[in-house]
Amino acid sequence: MNWNPDEHYKSTAVAADYDANRFSSIPGQVFNFLEKRLVAKCFSLLPEGGTIADAPCGTGRLAEALLDAGYRVHGFDISRAMLGVAQQRLASHGENFTCEVANLKECPPSGPICDGALCARVLMHFPLEQQVQFLTGVAGLSRSVVVINQSLDSGYQRFRRRLKRWMGNQPSARFPITDENIGLLLKRSGLREVRRHRLLPFISEAVYIVARKVDVPDHG
Ligand SMILES: C[S@@+](CC[C@H](N)C(=O)[O-])C[C@H]1O[C@@H](n2cnc3c(N)ncnc32)[C@H](O)[C@@H]1O
Repeated sequence: MNWNPDEHYKSTAVAADYDANRFSSIPGQVFNFLEKRLVAKCFSLLPEGGTIADAPCGTGRLAEALLDAGYRVHGFDISRAMLGVAQQRLASHGENFTCEVANLKECPPSGPICDGALCARVLMHFPLEQQVQFLTGVAGLSRSVVVINQSLDSGYQRFRRRLKRWMGNQPSARFPITDENIGLLLKRSGLREVRRHRLLPFISEAVYIVARKVDVPDHG
């Protein structure tokens, strides 16, 4: 499949349809609600009022949950079109939401410039080496907590994926990650795991990891 995640979302049409395509069905709405709630919970280590880098921010779906939880959010994304949708959606949050175009994999802004960072729904689109590159860029934006989301590659999830393919459904994660490689990814990105959460583990491969920068003590 010739699909490039660095380019795909730059299309205005793709950006305009992103949320409706994924989250308008009943299961999509339920998952979206639960994921937003979980992502806000993942940042409970961070005091309200702190600034979180949402990287990549996309259409501001998860930024919205963080703003509602009392944080300020600065969104980064390679796609101006996705950020345009986010700016419209989050206009009512005024200066608590700001954003900028950035290629987080190739040339991330130098930091740290935020108290925490979120990296959701992107790493599974890249091979491991590029995941390390991407996450290193995101970790550099944060002073302490980094929350990541990936798709778990376990025996059960491989079985589910085979079943989905057999039923004619193409799995969305091209590069899901094994438990062992989660350790490697975090270590090579300068992070260590604090805790992890699963969402609907029998029907979803999504895993959410709360991590800290290795050079920041637990109370920092
Ligand atoms: C599937 S969307 C996820 C957006 C958001 N985190 C969410 O959960 O709704 C993936 C996003 O990653 C962005 N992206 C892809 N490659 C990127 C890169 N190299 N640097 C910054 N953003 C990138 C895309 O433009 C897209 O908005």
